[in-house]
Amino acid sequence: MDTVEVREDFNRQLNQELMNAYIYLSMAAYFDSISLTGFAHYFKVQAREELEHAMKIYEFMADRGWRIELQTIPKPKANWSGVLEAVEDFLKAEEENTKRIWKMVDLARQAGDKAAENFLQWFVNEQVEEEKNASELQAKVKLLKDHPIGLLMLDRMLAERK
Ligand code: FEO
Repeated sequence: MDTVEVREDFNRQLNQELMNAYIYLSMAAYFDSISLTGFAHYFKVQAREELEHAMKIYEFMADRGWRIELQTIPKPKANWSGVLEAVEDFLKAEEENTKRIWKMVDLARQAGDKAAENFLQWFVNEQVEEEKNASELQAKVKLLKDHPIGLLMLDRMLAERK
């Protein structure tokens, strides 16, 4: 059992995850352009995770026999005033994503779609992790923004992200 609203909502979120991948890849390109290759690596990994999220939704939709229609992805922001602005955008993007996922849960519940609601629990938990990562990174950058050596050490740490 499903509804058009839930199907459309999943299709929208599939596109949103692809859009987030695009935004984070753009951040990676920005960091590469200013030689912060650890930050660049961190956001390349983040972009790859967003693609995995998109594919999770894709496979669920395909399993349900729902039609997937890819949408246009707008050109992402390409420049930031500095490291802090970029990581603040990262945190904002994840907070917005949490709101969207929670709304999806509400919609699935209203529609009585148990499978969709159950599937979304993974994303609810994942968003806790995503917000934690983004918020920790933002806090560290805030602390180090006037300390170039500290920032370079953080850059080296971020290069280790798997
Ligand atoms: Fe797909 Fe960063 O949440």
